[in-house]
Amino acid sequence: MELKQTLKEFTKQGRGLLATNYYNVETLHGVLKAASDLNEPIILQLTKSSIDYMGLETAVNLGRSGLKQFGVTGWIHLDHGGSVELAHRCLDAGFDSVMIDGSELPFEENVAMAQEVVELAKQYKAHVEAELGFVAKLGQSTEGAGFTQPGEAKDFVEQTGVDALAIAIGTAHGFYKSEPKLQLELLKEIAAITPSTLVLHGSSGVPHDQVQKAISLGICKINLATEIKNIFMKTLQERLRSNEEIDLRKVFPVATNAVTELVKTKLLMVKNENHA
Ligand code: 13P
Ligand code: ZN
Ligand code: NA
Repeated sequence: MELKQTLKEFTKQGRGLLATNYYNVETLHGVLKAASDLNEPIILQLTKSSIDYMGLETAVNLGRSGLKQFGVTGWIHLDHGGSVELAHRCLDAGFDSVMIDGSELPFEENVAMAQEVVELAKQYKAHVEAELGFVAKLGQSTEGAGFTQPGEAKDFVEQTGVDALAIAIGTAHGFYKSEPKLQLELLKEIAAITPSTLVLHGSSGVPHDQVQKAISLGICKINLATEIKNIFMKTLQERLRSNEEIDLRKVFPVATNAVTELVKTKLLMVKNENHA
């Protein structure tokens, strides 16, 4: 099934679709082993930093061949694309989906940039996500984080034709200083009038029951990054402290396995089987 159809279908069923970031072959395979073991679909995301780190062709080819190798249904997505030019390069490289992030721009400029990418993506039959309201980036203060206004969300989707919209309802990228409180009433209002798929960014550190409530109320795509990086590096650091092994093929798998265990819990979370 196409990504758009899958997200529509899952939204109707009150279940989520997990979107995990990957940084190298180890984190990618950790994620894919989890999806394969549980026979669940997954979105594989790349930020500009990960693309710069691996190289565009290598990054997308790793994702594509990984899906095949592990027998997983999945899609490759540009996470937080900052320019039309980057989105274009990713579309050319065969991405299934791109996010154009104009969340820090004035409404009209955000609309104009999203319109441009939607137009472009048509030629590739690709899926487009944008963001309205502001989910604080890593290291940014959450002070200025503006929640998404329902009327604006509706207008934005109507004016741009984006397939998916990331909304700000109380999450932030990275871990939290104190437990986040999702604005579930606001989510309900947004979901009632916004025709696109709704995306939750900043899922690391959000209690699972809150994510599941959000899914039951209309969120579908669940973005997860920091917890993956964290468990991978913490496990690796622990392993290296107590071991002088230099065969990296014997060292990395413990960290890859830790990613698999983490992602399995998240895949079960988004499945949201016990929802009313
Ligand atoms: P976290 O790093 O909080 O999981 O957020 C991930 C994200 O939103 C990627 O776009
Ligand atoms: Zn994000
Ligand atoms: Na987070």
